[in-house]
Amino acid sequence: MEFNRLQDMNVRGKTVLLRADLNVPAKDGVVSDTTRIDRVKPTVAFLVENGAKILVLSHFGRPKGEPLPEFSQKFLCPALEKSWGRPVRFAEDCIGAPAKELAASLGEGEIGLLENLRYHKEEEKNDPGFTAQLAALGDIYVNDAFSAAHRAHASTEGLAHLLPAAAGTLMEAELDALTKALEAPQRPVMAIVGGAKVSTKLSVLLNLIRKVDILVLGGGMANTFVFAQGAEVGKSLCEKDMADEARKIMDAAREAGCEILLPKDRIVVREVSENAAHDVVGVGDIPDDMEAIDIGPVTIEQVREHLGRTKTVLWNGPMGIFEVKPFDNGTNALAQTVAELTREGHLVSVAGGGDTVSALENAGVKDGFTYVSSAGGAFLEWMEGKELPGVIALAKARKAA
Ligand code: 3PG
Repeated sequence: MEFNRLQDMNVRGKTVLLRADLNVPAKDGVVSDTTRIDRVKPTVAFLVENGAKILVLSHFGRPKGEPLPEFSQKFLCPALEKSWGRPVRFAEDCIGAPAKELAASLGEGEIGLLENLRYHKEEEKNDPGFTAQLAALGDIYVNDAFSAAHRAHASTEGLAHLLPAAAGTLMEAELDALTKALEAPQRPVMAIVGGAKVSTKLSVLLNLIRKVDILVLGGGMANTFVFAQGAEVGKSLCEKDMADEARKIMDAAREAGCEILLPKDRIVVREVSENAAHDVVGVGDIPDDMEAIDIGPVTIEQVREHLGRTKTVLWNGPMGIFEVKPFDNGTNALAQTVAELTREGHLVSVAGGGDTVSALENAGVKDGFTYVSSAGGAFLEWMEGKELPGVIALAKARKAA
């Protein structure tokens, strides 16, 4: 997909509306994970160096059109200043007098942050009047919020129709990585998908079987597939009512030439707790009073063997309950193998979505993948094969200012 890049724009002296995704984890009014803020830094640095006046737009949480104090973005300023290395001034509203005053007061290379866009219900409705009020604050629109690109909101979609627009460097990096993983990958491609439920990832699986050569299934969702093949799963998490869907996916995969790898053995426990007594059993041999909590050593070895012949890996979701030790072993072993093969230049590896990043962090390999996406929901929708409105709008946007 073709879209404007920062380098295509003449930003000097212009006010740039920079849509970032500052929807970051926070605890007691302090940002607890600055990844999304840090990842926007190259875009901010480019705009500062090139003399733009930078007005940052974002949402934080889901205040649903109400100006609820717990969703104010003011508390983000110290974290932005620390990461971006520049002062950040704040406006108490994203439209109206406070926003206009902040916009008018910015000099070249200066940064302002507007209050939460979602204090106005018109943001999520992509209301034309609201979008026009935002557009009137600036000359150029830069979208660096890939992780919000699945939302067709005023600031993620609407603005691209009103102002000359470009992708920021984070948006560009995300799209490049995703293209390398699924649209134009080096083959064979393996997708590793875990997580609790098949029902939440049905569309993801249906899309992946058409695009990848091998699909490794782990986590709770693998139980549903195993059950659909006729095996008992004991007390394991299993969506028995999804068995038909699971069989359809397996049939469609066969037709599409995609090999599905299900666990061959499982780690089972009577009760999920730290260091709980556990056994390794064959996948059809889970006792009635036990539940699967991780993949077993035979499965790990089997996936590793396939990884040795794979060129591209796309990873979403853990292989077991990685939050409870030592049942992070399966996820860790596979993630570490992917990281090792990536480091040796054998693999392109891309991960993202939901708790995938914390699982990789727990495995100590967050920096060992070729690319780890900053997106949750947007990554999943992209894996479903859906077009992301924010990305489509950028591709259609007007050329340079
Ligand atoms: C995210 O954190 O995934 C994005 O910021 C989107 O947030 P939303 O699901 O509230 O639209």
